[in-house]
Amino acid sequence: MVDHPLAQAILTTLRDKNTKQIEFRKGLVRLGRLMGYEIVKSMDIDTVEVETPLGVKAKGVRIKDLDHIVIIQVLRAAMPLVEGLVKIFANARMGVVSARRVEESHRPGSLDFDIEITYVKVPRIFEDDILIVADPMLATGSTITAVLRHVFKYGNPKRTLIVSVIATRYGIDRVLKEYPFAEIYTVAIDPEINEKGYIVPGLGDAGDRAFGGP
Ligand code: URA
Repeated sequence: MVDHPLAQAILTTLRDKNTKQIEFRKGLVRLGRLMGYEIVKSMDIDTVEVETPLGVKAKGVRIKDLDHIVIIQVLRAAMPLVEGLVKIFANARMGVVSARRVEESHRPGSLDFDIEITYVKVPRIFEDDILIVADPMLATGSTITAVLRHVFKYGNPKRTLIVSVIATRYGIDRVLKEYPFAEIYTVAIDPEINEKGYIVPGLGDAGDRAFGGP
């Protein structure tokens, strides 16, 4: 969990029902950037030496794998989050997946929905890549598991990271059951999912709040 106070403060603004669309989107962008910093902490580094303008050598670091990042955004709510991630991973290869929760597929007593994947454009994934799949709300895990099933058709990376803003225990367990190697980054784990599949207390419909909706 990303417990940096700045991330928690931004999340608080996102949760607030009075936060308007533009501020909401900006908050997601800032969180994406912060999540990027967190991910970098887990990446391997090389020690290097450079010469400064004073003609003196200085020891430093180089982050490995910055050229081996693939970012997949799950449309549409992940767009601002990915805008932030790309500020850190500027050389990332990018893909998009459009996933729709089929509301009518919800069965009483079950939390899960069928997911319809309507568009997939993913670059080839190599075995030295770090795959980052961004979707701000990891509720039941139905969407992300369906997305991963499609994405892995393009190759198997050395690491698979899921970047969300709010997750639930149920969703995390569901993803890890199917993909035990996945690493999940989130700013909060909320206690409930309601009968409509929304995370509670959550922040509402992330796509509608970021881009406008009903
Ligand atoms: N998707 C959202 O946008 N919000 C939720 O609470 C759950 C899924």
